[in-house]
Amino acid sequence: MKIGVPKEIKNNESRVGMTPAGVFELTKNNHTVYVQTDAGFGSGFFNKDYEEAGAIILNSIEDVYAASDMIVKVKEPIEEEYTLIKPDQVVFTYFHFASSETLTRAMINSKSICIAYETVEEKDGSLPLLVPMSEVAGRMSIQQGAKYLEKPIKGRGVLLGGVPGVPPGKVLVLGAGIVGMQAAKMAAGLGAHVTIMDINMKQLRYVNDVMPNHVVTEFSSEYNIRKRIKEADLIIGGVLIKGAKAPKLITKDMLKDMRPGTVIVDVAVDQGGCFETTKATTHENPTYIIDDVVHYCVANMPGAVPYTSTVALTNVTLPYVLRLANQGWVKACETDTTLSKGLNIVKGRVVYKEIAEAFNWETEIS
Ligand SMILES: NC(=O)c1ccc[n+]([C@@H]2O[C@H](COP(=O)([O-])OP(=O)(O)OC[C@H]3O[C@@H](n4cnc5c(N)ncnc54)[C@H](O)[C@@H]3O)[C@@H](O)[C@H]2O)c1
Repeated sequence: MKIGVPKEIKNNESRVGMTPAGVFELTKNNHTVYVQTDAGFGSGFFNKDYEEAGAIILNSIEDVYAASDMIVKVKEPIEEEYTLIKPDQVVFTYFHFASSETLTRAMINSKSICIAYETVEEKDGSLPLLVPMSEVAGRMSIQQGAKYLEKPIKGRGVLLGGVPGVPPGKVLVLGAGIVGMQAAKMAAGLGAHVTIMDINMKQLRYVNDVMPNHVVTEFSSEYNIRKRIKEADLIIGGVLIKGAKAPKLITKDMLKDMRPGTVIVDVAVDQGGCFETTKATTHENPTYIIDDVVHYCVANMPGAVPYTSTVALTNVTLPYVLRLANQGWVKACETDTTLSKGLNIVKGRVVYKEIAEAFNWETEIS
């Protein structure tokens, strides 16, 4: 199969859909991989790395789309790419269709086969191609939170790990899923005192088993949250209720109970946020202050660490790319129910119920 890896052209996106290691595996399996010149530059992979792995470098994005049976990328296609996508071409990437009717209509019109990373789903309901980005965001939340606790950037002026004679900072983590666990682990590693809350007792038992003693579990309730925010230096929001907006666990009136300079990092911002005062921010301007509380609400946190994010993402996408290339999309999806859940739009038809529902297009589901 001919596989194309275009350079991401969405604003501020430095990740790339395939590393040289992926090219190596595909060419070993007798596939041809076209990589757009400088596609990996932002993630620290250069043309010569791809060439040495067996790729053919093409100069323009038009050439990559025109030459390929399957496109492997990171973000959803943006307007400039809509007309480059051909009928019967497989496009394997994050799409998030329900958030854009324009994109959805463009992909329907393209008559391509759109397989979305975010809906590839294991039998137990887990989303294997979303996990690595939650891992990155969870770990980053502490790194960013620790930075914004510094006084020159309006934080409380607290060193999370403390020093001999000065107690460590206090971190409250809301949600003990992927984001929450990674955040708790990083904060504990810095020596902070960590409280992690969830409503899932099974998960709290697990956290209690595997975390060190300075990570304390507590059931998530409004009463407990109100109590803990008074003493927290850093609060991480990592809750998720699948298919729903994040619950507002910290309301505006609670900010006055926090100490000035407390930092709150709402990782769940992409699901509407779990703090009432959350507004999505960008890496250029990541924070804002309300009632002396520093809010960090960047919606694409992994974008700031493209090397780590690219490798983490492609580690999990490559096995599916190989399957799609070796078997073709029809057979690969027939034999792999996890992958087949990723089918969103097939040759002009919406085949993923939730997308059609998002736009009230019941008639278009096949
Ligand atoms: N901002 C970013 O760049 C970025 C990157 C990756 C993920 N995310 C987002 O982070 C959020 C968390 O993702 P995840 O992968 O950790 O999800 P997850 O499903 O692994 O974990 C969510 C946890 O929240 C818990 N929860 C639900 N309601 C709760 C409540 N009222 N109180 C406490 N806990 C509660 C659940 O029981 C679950 O354990 C999602 O919204 C995800 O989209 C954001």
